Amino acid sequence: MGDGPEEDHVLRELQPSVERLLERHLAAARDWLPHQYVPWSAAHDFDGPLRGTAWAPEQSALPQAVRDALVVNLLTEDNLPSYHFEIATRFGRDGAWGSWVHRWTAEEDRHAAALRAYVHARRAVDPVALEELRMRHVGTGYRAGLPTLLHSLAYVMVQELATRQAHRNAGAACQDPVGEQLMARIAADENLHMLFYRELFSDALARFPDAALTALADVLHDFEMPGAGLPGFRARAARIAAAGIYGLDVHLEHVVVPLLRALKVMSLPGLGPAGEQARERLDAHTERLSARAARARELFDRMTTPHEDRQREDRTKTPREDPTAREAHV
Ligand SMILES: [Fe+2]
Ligand SMILES: [Fe+2]
Repeated sequence: MGDGPEEDHVLRELQPSVERLLERHLAAARDWLPHQYVPWSAAHDFDGPLRGTAWAPEQSALPQAVRDALVVNLLTEDNLPSYHFEIATRFGRDGAWGSWVHRWTAEEDRHAAALRAYVHARRAVDPVALEELRMRHVGTGYRAGLPTLLHSLAYVMVQELATRQAHRNAGAACQDPVGEQLMARIAADENLHMLFYRELFSDALARFPDAALTALADVLHDFEMPGAGLPGFRARAARIAAAGIYGLDVHLEHVVVPLLRALKVMSLPGLGPAGEQARERLDAHTERLSARAARARELFDRMTTPHEDRQREDRTKTPREDPTAREAHV
């Protein structure tokens, strides 16, 4: 890509890092069994061949924003075949890179399986609407459209951390200890994935400081969670943000700032003009994000006033009126 390093060169240069980090990951990762996290005793047959009871909204005990978050988080996990394709075609399927791709895919595959079983056992969301959304979402597929391998590495690093926060905060807000336990378990997986990519990206910054920092600035500037293409995503994203599960403030405080700090972006040595420019862009982006997050928080605080009617009325208006609606997609 342009004046950046050749993809094969980056793959070769980072291969020893991938080997080391994969080994560390395998030592740190704890195997867990999805079936043990599902409250099977709460489950009942549905209508259809088993002639059980059809889903009805009053069966769900979870707060609306948590239902929204579960739908978005679950459908995002459902699109694993597309993410696998993205990284398998970019990282390759050989050597340590390939081993990571397959191991990561196997771990990720637990997330949708466990979450869907939980959601159905708890009758948390409309299973028919959920399945229709899944067919559309997975049927559309996902293309990251990122120009270089370094962009892909920056993206997955940010995405794993964002996903960790989304699962963790949805669990904390769900008012069901069983759900919280499952979502914390999934978040722990995402945390290890994030650590793998963050360390790898740190090595990429050491070897290719200008190209890597440019990639990071590009990715943070355009960042959207993969679920952003879902039908009805804006309204859901606004409710999820208002509940403090994931929005601009969470994105800034728990994703962008900690990543920039951990990568020591502000004191990175050896930058040329392109790298310096990327650092300035990152600085400006963080400042803009911070102003937008403050405005969004103000708006959401008004929305979550105790008055039920006011709350409902405001929420239905949010997607159209919220000036931060696009950013709330993260
Ligand atoms: Fe996941
Ligand atoms: Fe992950």
